[in-house]
Amino acid sequence: MPFGIDIQEDEIQSWGHEILETMLLDRTTGENIIWATDDYASRGEAYTFFQHITPELITGENKYIIQPRVAKNEVERKRRARKMAEVFTPSWVCNLMNNGVDHAWFKREPVFNVTSLKDGKHIWTPTEEKITFPDGKTWQEYVSMGVLEITCGEAPFLASRYDTVTGEAITELNRRIGWLDRKLRIVGENTDTREDWLHWAKMAFKGTLGYEWQGDSLLLARENLLMSFFDYHEDRFCEEPAIEDVKEIAEIISWNIFQMDGLKFVIPRSCHSKVIETKDLITGAVIRKEIPCEGCKKGLIHRHNGIYVNTMDWETDKIVRFDQLGDLPKIETLKYEH
Ligand SMILES: C[S@@+](CC[C@H](N)C(=O)[O-])C[C@H]1O[C@@H](n2cnc3c(N)ncnc32)[C@H](O)[C@@H]1O
Repeated sequence: MPFGIDIQEDEIQSWGHEILETMLLDRTTGENIIWATDDYASRGEAYTFFQHITPELITGENKYIIQPRVAKNEVERKRRARKMAEVFTPSWVCNLMNNGVDHAWFKREPVFNVTSLKDGKHIWTPTEEKITFPDGKTWQEYVSMGVLEITCGEAPFLASRYDTVTGEAITELNRRIGWLDRKLRIVGENTDTREDWLHWAKMAFKGTLGYEWQGDSLLLARENLLMSFFDYHEDRFCEEPAIEDVKEIAEIISWNIFQMDGLKFVIPRSCHSKVIETKDLITGAVIRKEIPCEGCKKGLIHRHNGIYVNTMDWETDKIVRFDQLGDLPKIETLKYEH
């Protein structure tokens, strides 16, 4: 396994082909994702809330800046939990919840693994036989279906390279429990040639989505998905993927794992008040009136004046506004105070 828990942005940069740049792209604005947190502001203006995360800010002498939550210090972890409700879900809980969705989809259980308690610890044992599909459903459908992790943090429900709570690496691929992991297991079990595997692996990535407010966690989520591609490719073909395929996967990820305020469907804090100036006809005094964002004021999801987030409809290759997507899995918006 070539990569540890803390993926080095330097390493990604060393591959060239603008892969790190792609991983930092915000497809809605065409610029880079923003920090959307002031946690790093003590490092200077370039690290403040609205500034874009650029390769220079996180590589070279800055290469240890972005670290998974489990590697952050206690004070920082507490602050992020208080400010952004950043508390991550342990892998065994992600597994139980994902198993629940699979139970409903396959109409049977177990499908991917059997869960149990051992010495007070929640464990799971992968099923060994090839996974079969219920009447009327196909493996291709499972791989392509859209799955979204809302407020994804480092995306433990999608790609479980490590337990985001304990920091323990999950190195055996058949013990991974995320949606992308499940899809890639199905791809592995149902394809024979490299061409077929690659085609369906890309479909698996196209069907795996998540959004997150904080730029650092968003990048970590993106990296976890990208590194999963390496892990599964190496497991299958005993070699690293071709750089063109890595680039293509990075492009898919940059569309599918995006920065958004999930309560408003806009780029974090992009809503604003407008100031209108008029003159008093009698006194001539300038009157300034502040008009707040209508969506924010009235809680109307489609009336914000911030930047609504775009995503890609991979079936038609057309860009769609996230708030206008009709058939996504039901989104349960969580109420966080900022
Ligand atoms: C409870 S954590 C869950 C992370 C991950 N899904 C998990 O289960 O481990 C909540 C995450 O939501 C993010 N968040 C908080 N408010 C948000 C909002 N309005 N829109 C998008 N993400 C938000 C936080 O930055 C944090 O990463």
